[in-house]
Amino acid sequence: MKRLGVNIDHVATVRNARGEKHPDPYYAALQSIKMGADSVTIHLREDRRHINDKDAKKICGLKKVLVNLEISMNDNIVNNALKIKPNYICIVPENRKEITTEGGLDLLKHKKKLKKIIKKFKKANIRTSLFINPSIKDIELSKELNVDCIEIHTGKLSNLVKSKKNFKNELSRIKKSSILASKLNIEVHAGHGLDYKTTKILTKINTIQEFNIGHFIIGESIFLGLSKVIKNFKKIIKN
Ligand code: PXP
Repeated sequence: MKRLGVNIDHVATVRNARGEKHPDPYYAALQSIKMGADSVTIHLREDRRHINDKDAKKICGLKKVLVNLEISMNDNIVNNALKIKPNYICIVPENRKEITTEGGLDLLKHKKKLKKIIKKFKKANIRTSLFINPSIKDIELSKELNVDCIEIHTGKLSNLVKSKKNFKNELSRIKKSSILASKLNIEVHAGHGLDYKTTKILTKINTIQEFNIGHFIIGESIFLGLSKVIKNFKKIIKN
């Protein structure tokens, strides 16, 4: 059974645009699970541009919600995450200037540091994942790092599909990486830039067990929700 993780960072982005309390990502986490999501993802970024420490603590404290906390390799963030104790961790590269996570981790460059971090989370019984590009070399390195899962960065595939370019080679890279990881007993996840079409394409790869999707789900929810909210207001102002 393939699982869906819903990334709710952008609920916090909308909230923060006003600096008030609505919409609350805590409520979005509860709603996502109620509506059938298998887990929620939040990214506690070094610049706290969306989810903040208070959100992360509150959401990770929810007993009924499996929370996947995305973090960088920054020491303070790692220590914070060990205190917050999410169910899952996904280590991602982070660059202050980026709009969103651009590409996977450089496993070769950060091998030593990653090994230490993964050991800490494993000791704390937290399922740990590495966000990587679809490459055989990175799968082999992930095995050496003894990580539980890998999440394949699907941003390149998504961009190719959306711009109607040939995506066969990228899809084949994702498939080969995913099959090898699975053979090596590493659980495979996929995420970044996914929408209905790209997710459908990737469901053909049986070894992908989890999809983590954010921007499209939150954006599409505006259109699916607008009619109901407008109807509510029309009722309120009727008289
Ligand atoms: N997975 C990881 C590891 C990410 O960093 C992100 C973006 O925060 C996502 C999934 C979700 O990407 P998107 O918002 O494009 O669906």
